[in-house]
Parts: sequence; C-alpha cells; structure tokens
Amino acid sequence: MHTPSAIFLAIGSLALAASVASLPSGSNATEGLSAEQCCTRLKGVLDSSQVLFPDSEEYDAQEASYYSGEQALQRPACRVTPSNAEDVSRVVKFATLNDCNFAVRSGGHMNWVGSSNIGEAGFTIDLEDMKRIELLDNSKTVAISPGLRWADVYSFLSPHNLHTAGGRSSGVGVGGFLLGGGISFLSLEFGFGSDNVVNYEIVLADGSIVNANESVSSDLYWALKGGSTNYGIVTRFDMATFPLTEIWGGSLFYNATLGPTFYEYLVGFTQRLSVDPHGLLAPILAWNAAEKDYLIWTPNAYLGPEAFPSPLYDGLQDIPTIRDTMRITNLTSVTDEIENGSPGGSRTQWFALAFKANAELPWDIHLKGDDIFKPFLSRPNTSWALTMQPINVGMIAAAKNRGGNPFGLTEEDGDLFLVLISVFWTDPGDDVDMKGATQDLLKWSTDTAKERGLFNRFIYMNYALNTQPVLESFGQENFDRMKEVKEKYDPRGLLNVWKGGYKL
Ligand SMILES: Cc1cc2nc3c(=O)[nH]c(=O)nc-3n(C[C@H](O)[C@H](O)[C@H](O)COP(=O)(O)OP(=O)(O)OC[C@H]3O[C@@H](n4cnc5c(N)ncnc54)[C@H](O)[C@@H]3O)c2cc1C
Ligand SMILES: *[C@@H]1O[C@H](CO)[C@@H](O)[C@H](O)[C@H]1NC(C)=O
Ligand SMILES: *[C@@H]1O[C@H](CO)[C@@H](O)[C@H](O)[C@H]1NC(C)=O
Ligand SMILES: *[C@@H]1O[C@H](CO)[C@@H](O)[C@H](O)[C@H]1NC(C)=O
Ligand SMILES: *[C@@H]1O[C@H](CO)[C@@H](O)[C@H](O)[C@H]1NC(C)=O
Ligand SMILES: *[C@@H]1O[C@H](CO)[C@@H](O)[C@H](O)[C@H]1NC(C)=O
Repeated sequence: MHTPSAIFLAIGSLALAASVASLPSGSNATEGLSAEQCCTRLKGVLDSSQVLFPDSEEYDAQEASYYSGEQALQRPACRVTPSNAEDVSRVVKFATLNDCNFAVRSGGHMNWVGSSNIGEAGFTIDLEDMKRIELLDNSKTVAISPGLRWADVYSFLSPHNLHTAGGRSSGVGVGGFLLGGGISFLSLEFGFGSDNVVNYEIVLADGSIVNANESVSSDLYWALKGGSTNYGIVTRFDMATFPLTEIWGGSLFYNATLGPTFYEYLVGFTQRLSVDPHGLLAPILAWNAAEKDYLIWTPNAYLGPEAFPSPLYDGLQDIPTIRDTMRITNLTSVTDEIENGSPGGSRTQWFALAFKANAELPWDIHLKGDDIFKPFLSRPNTSWALTMQPINVGMIAAAKNRGGNPFGLTEEDGDLFLVLISVFWTDPGDDVDMKGATQDLLKWSTDTAKERGLFNRFIYMNYALNTQPVLESFGQENFDRMKEVKEKYDPRGLLNVWKGGYKL
C-alpha cells in the first residue's frame, strides 16, 4: 500500500534507524533501546505471537479499529497483546527497565491523537485479548477485563437481567471509559461509571499486581476513579450490578430551529431528574452534510418499559419530532443504535465544558459555532456537533455516597449542563483550519460562560481535548492528593515511559 502517508512513514523510520545507529559507541544501557529493539526483545518477554509488527493482518486490524482516524494512522513499532495480568506485568517491567516508550489501548475511542496510540518511537499495549467476564458475589458484582467493549458486557449481563454503569454507545471500551469517569444511563441515580467500581486489579509501576478498593489501598482506589494513565494498567474492573429488563429507548429527531425550545425543555428535565433519575436524554445539534442543514438528534433511554413517564418526560410530546425510533426494547438495541449514529474513522477534535443548567448559552454556542465552522462546512466529510447532557445534583450526591471521586463536583455546584463539542473531517489538509476553529469555539464558549456567571471548572476527561487542563480542573486539593498517590505508588517515576492520557 504505497499511499503518500505510508511512504512518508517509511522515510520517518529510516531516519530514526539512522539516528540510533549513529549513537556514540560505548553508550550503555542508560541510553535505552530503540523502539525496534524493544519490540524484538518483547518477543522473548511474551509469546512471540503476542507481538504484532507493521503490515501484519492483526496489526492492521487493531490500527483500523481506532475511533479517531488520526490515531489509526500512528504506526507504533509493534503492538503487544497481553492475555492476562501476568503478561501485562511482564511488559511493564520490561518497558520501565529498558526505557521503552509505550501507549495503552482498551476500546480505542479516545478522540485525540496519541491518547491511546503512539508513533514509531514506541509500542502500543493493546488490551483487546483480555476478554474475561464473570459474575461474583452472588451476581452483585461483575468482574470485567479491559479488552471488552460495553456491547460485550451488556450481552453477557442481559440474560441475567442485569446491567452496570457502562457506556451508552456499544463500541466504547471498558478501560478508558472507567478511568475517565464514565456517563451511563444509570449515572443520574448512581454517579459516574467509576463510582460503581468496587475493586480495581491493577499492574503498578514496579510490575506488581494488586487490588485497590475501599478497604485496601483506598487512596489508590479513590484516585483511580479519575486516574487516567497515571497509576498503572488496570487489568480488571469489578463493578456493581443492577437489575434491568426492558427499557424505553431510541432516538428523537427535531428540526434544528427548535433548538431554543429544546434547551428550555432540557433545563426543566434536568430539574425533574431529582424526582425520577431513570431517564437520560442528550440532544445533539449536528451539521448534517447530506441535507446541508443542522438537525437535532436526541438519543434517549428510560430504564423501564414505560413511554413518556411522568413527571420526567412531561411536555416532551408537545415538541414536534421529524422522526423518532422510540420503542420498548432492550439496552443492547439502544446502545447499538447510538453507536451506529456515531461512526469512527474521521479525523476529529472534541472538547468538554460544564456550566450551570441554562437554556440560552447552548443555543448561543451553536450560533457562534456556526459562524466559526461555516467557511469549512462545504468541504467534503466535514461536520461538527454540540451535545448537551445533564449532570444533576442527584448524580453528584450519588457519587459522594459511593465514597467520592477526584472530580471535585459538589452539590453546591447545582444542576449542570455538560457540553461536548465534536468536530469531524477527513482531509489532513484541513487539520490546521479545523483544529484552529475548535480552539476558537472553546475559547469563546469558556469566556462567555464566565462572563455570564455560569462557568463550572469541571472538565470531563472522556470528552476533553489534549490541550485542556483536565486534572487541574478537579481543584487544587484533589490534584495535590492525586499527585501524592502517584508518588506513593510510583516513587521513581517509572511510568514516565507511558505516553498518552492525562498526566499529573
Ligand atoms: C461513539 C462514542 C460514544 C461515547 N459514549 C460515551 C458515553 O456514553 N459516556 C461517556 O462517558 N463517554 C462516552 N464516550 C467517550 C469515551 O468514554 C472515551 O472516549 C473513553 O476514553 C473511551 O475509552 P476506550 O477504552 O474506548 O478508549 P482508549 O482510547 O482505548 O483509552 C482511553 C484512555 O484510557 C487509557 N486506558 C484504557 N484502558 C486502560 C487500562 N486498562 N488501564 C490504564 N489505562 C487505560 C488509554 O491509555 C487512554 O489514555 C464516547 C466516545 C465515542 C467515540
Ligand atoms: C554506563 O553508564 C554508567 C553510569 O553513567 C557509567 O558509570 C559507565 O561507565 C558506563 N559504561 C560504559 C561502558 O559506557
Ligand atoms: C480488596 O482487596 C483485598 C486485597 O486483595 C481483597 O482481599 C478484597 O476481597 C478486596 N475487596 C473487594 C471488595 O474486592
Ligand atoms: C426546519 O424548519 C425550517 C423553518 O420552518 C424549514 O425551512 C426547514 O425546511 C425545516 N427542516 C427540516 C429538515 O424539516
Ligand atoms: C434486543 O432487541 C433486539 C431488537 O428487538 C433483538 O434482536 C435482540 O435479540 C434483543 N437482545 C436481547 C439480548 O434480548
Ligand atoms: C470522505 O470520506 C470518504 C469515506 O471515508 C472517503 O473515501 C473520501 O476520500 C473522503 N473525502 C475526502 C476529500 O477526504
């Protein structure tokens, strides 16, 4: 496959090989190995079939499965596929000892380049072969390995009429979702996904395999609820289960001109979540390139077999839809529908912003975004979307009741709206324009939320851009505490060879 980028990459790796070859002779182990040497030696650390090299079928399949087209084009020197915690431990020990840079991938859905993949100067630990799942403790918990996607978890749990606080889109990975928090259909009642993890099995910097939970390593347990890539590779998440059979779910579509009406509705809906936390709707106001117009797509689910339950959904039927797919169904069917509505493969930029629940600001962000993106929307495959989601006081209280997390949200923050801006394009020639436009909208939205007295400092990791100060947004006290935990569990900074994610 001699596309221009493949040729470019080949030249890049020749240059790297040359620079390694020209190291002064007599340089010793402290100079470290080249990524190619790391990969060659890794074949002796694991079974050689677990180390995949560029252009092998399996390597290419793993690369192609990233959500972000830019991450998919990064070409690590090799991809390593551990099948259990012991394998992960061997790889971590080897990499830290030999200064081999690496990245880690679970479901590969993080949006920014380098978050879970790495270029030719490193290797990627791909957890995709770690697919164990089992019920424990009389089915009160489910132990999930990080190679699973939420679709796998739900299809395992549904015959037992159980659910857990996982993703709303079936292709999202278990690992990244939970290490950034995770907003589930259960979140309004039970907090973030990570608030529902009762035990982490983790490979630490020194390669030891330990548990972190409320009674053992409770400081690490707390930090991992928003830990990103700072503490180790989690090899098992034990999560609380909840009974679930049928739900009311699907999508509602509206004319974009109803945006102001819908945002007004969402303010009331968010307030009513204190009465009934079982529903979650998340309007996405997106540019629809096919129609050359905006459209509101609202994925929605209520965790019971009841349409328009009162009082939560009061008034929704008065807003005229263009189309809807709402039905009494199962969770899998709804999470598949959401996944199909958000296909991967494009180049992409996302950012997150939180502010007090308010009807006007979302529409103004849409109007400003339209100004900023309009010059580019006629280019092929180019689009952008504004997604709004409620984080209500009940969700914040639920998180606290489950032991608390590092995010720093308190009930005094009140009902919040969480904004996700997502931008898509395919031509690398548009990178500068699209990334610049994204930064412009981020700045305008943040400044305007501040001017209006609505701004909340919380930056949600799973939607954030690499330039956003996610961990700092948790507040000084939590940030410092996370750093202390890091110093305790990785005192020599061995995990500095791990690239990607948000670092303390
Ligand atoms: C279509 C789509 C739908 C989404 N829906 C939701 C949603 O409903 N709710 C929500 O909250 N978010 C949602 N997200 C955001 C999603 O939670 C984040 O993108 C998340 O990071 C994805 O996790 P992953 O495992 O797939 O990603 P990856 O890119 O594999 O991992 C993300 C980060 O976590 C690290 N990591 C992964 N596994 C481990 C591990 N076992 N140990 C240590 N570090 C690890 C990686 O190194 C990387 O830095 C969605 C994203 C997309 C693209
Ligand atoms: C290797 O590095 C150590 C520590 O810097 C140094 O003492 C030693 O002389 C080096 N050995 C060689 C062969 O260069
Ligand atoms: C917490 O970790 C300890 C030590 O490994 C373990 O014995 C205990 O079962 C764990 N608790 C939970 C809830 O998993
Ligand atoms: C949305 O409403 C506007 C104004 O009424 C109308 O011009 C437009 O065609 C509608 N779009 C769709 C997709 O129905
Ligand atoms: C979920 O619903 C879909 C569509 O109705 C159906 O095909 C599927 O078998 C159901 N799955 C389960 C696990 O019940
Ligand atoms: C648009 O996307 C399609 C499908 O991914 C791709 O084949 C095509 O090359 C893209 N067009 C441009 C100009 O990038």
